[in-house]
Amino acid sequence: MDRIYYKGKAFEVSPQVYPPAEDTFLLADNLDARAGERVLELGTGCGILAILAAEAGAEVVATDVNPAALRCARANAVAHGVEDRIDFRLGDLFEPVRGERFDLVVFNPPYLPVPSEESIGDMLDRAWEGGPDGRAVIDRFLEGLPEHLNEGGRALFVQSSLSDITRTLHMLRAFRVGILRRKLPFEELFLLRVTTLLPLQL
Ligand SMILES: C[S@@+](CC[C@H](N)C(=O)[O-])C[C@H]1O[C@@H](n2cnc3c(N)ncnc32)[C@H](O)[C@@H]1O
Repeated sequence: MDRIYYKGKAFEVSPQVYPPAEDTFLLADNLDARAGERVLELGTGCGILAILAAEAGAEVVATDVNPAALRCARANAVAHGVEDRIDFRLGDLFEPVRGERFDLVVFNPPYLPVPSEESIGDMLDRAWEGGPDGRAVIDRFLEGLPEHLNEGGRALFVQSSLSDITRTLHMLRAFRVGILRRKLPFEELFLLRVTTLLPLQL
């Protein structure tokens, strides 16, 4: 079991669970969950982002395909006293929240391009492997996003310069998008803040 710290708060990370990294902390630094909001975190890993949202007063649904991640996230939520504000659900992308809408959707997806022959495909690899072009999960996420956002809702997610940011922006053309860029040694990390456009009140 590893332990990581964010702003003095400790989070346990069990084996087979993604250890929070630059992408996690970029999201955490920019997480704008507010009290009373309905927040969905996809792929919660050790639960750090869901827990920060719950500590801000949001009602959170946190999902993952990895049962070990959900166990780890739930234990961290208990340690931080917010387990009552987080509903943990196992499943692929939006499948566990079919028919539900949120004020904020947060996702640190698997976004690294990995050729099929190099993929081992265990649960830990699924945390960062985005298929041959890095987009296997991101494309499905962007396709499902609109029907899970409330009017005026927003999304916060990251991706790498290695996985075609132009395609992402094209898929988001019906939204307002803000981007923050962070240089890493072998790639650039993009934080995307996506807001639904409200209908004009005439
Ligand atoms: C990069 S890790 C992020 C973990 C955590 N949110 C963080 O920022 O530290 C991606 C997480 O998404 C999960 N995941 C991968 N594919 C998924 C899918 N199709 N649906 C839901 N979760 C998925 C992985 O198991 C992993 O926990």
